[in-house]
Amino acid sequence: MQRVVCPGSFDPVTNGHLDIIARAAGLYDEVVVAVLINVTKHSLFTVDERVEMLREVTARYGNVKIDRFHGLLVDFCANNGISAVIKGLRAVSDFEYEMQMAQMNYRMAKVETMFMTTNPLYSFLRSSLVKEIARYGGDVSGLVPDIVLARLRDRLAEELRPGPPAVKLGLPRTAGRLSARSEKLLTRVHCHAPYTNQSPARRARFRPARARPSGRLRADPAAHGAGPGRHAP
Ligand code: PNS
Repeated sequence: MQRVVCPGSFDPVTNGHLDIIARAAGLYDEVVVAVLINVTKHSLFTVDERVEMLREVTARYGNVKIDRFHGLLVDFCANNGISAVIKGLRAVSDFEYEMQMAQMNYRMAKVETMFMTTNPLYSFLRSSLVKEIARYGGDVSGLVPDIVLARLRDRLAEELRPGPPAVKLGLPRTAGRLSARSEKLLTRVHCHAPYTNQSPARRARFRPARARPSGRLRADPAAHGAGPGRHAP
């Protein structure tokens, strides 16, 4: 059985991803779409949500399976009897990075990488752009599947509503179970997000130093224990 893995963050899946998955499904016996679990990267959707959306949008293909992984892709391949990776190439700019990964994966475990040129309709498309455009009110219909569009609208509306910071960060809804220290940390991170419903006083406390005309690292050194000399570069 010829099995191939299509790895990525898929935060969220776009029509460009879907195009590659669908075309790969026509070439291989099985396509395993593997969502990277990356705890250090801020994501809009949780891994569960991304997997769920991928399952819905690929349901029509009988030979596409959705999975998740952490660690090295080559280890995921070894554990699942997969010997090749499929990647979409949008432009020359993708090539250098993708080639390094492909050669490294081959060096580590003889895992091959197949590059598929993207449909020109989607050659400019990436998840981070979709999120940015949607966040600032731009129209992303036609760039993501309809169910993703609806989820994007809901998630971004959640960001605008007052509520626990964990929800706004796209983290699991565990805010109530977080320690007071973690809650404080999340609130501070959230204060740097473009949309915040914190009070103006709170926003001023955590506004990044560059945004302040004074150039000071902290607006209120006394409140944060910052002594003299702690200025922004
Ligand atoms: O959608 P993305 O974020 O561009 O996908 C990147 C991904 C998941 C394909 C890549 O980061 C990856 O394979 N990560 C797994 C860790 C790994 O194997 N690193 C070594 C690559 S040579």
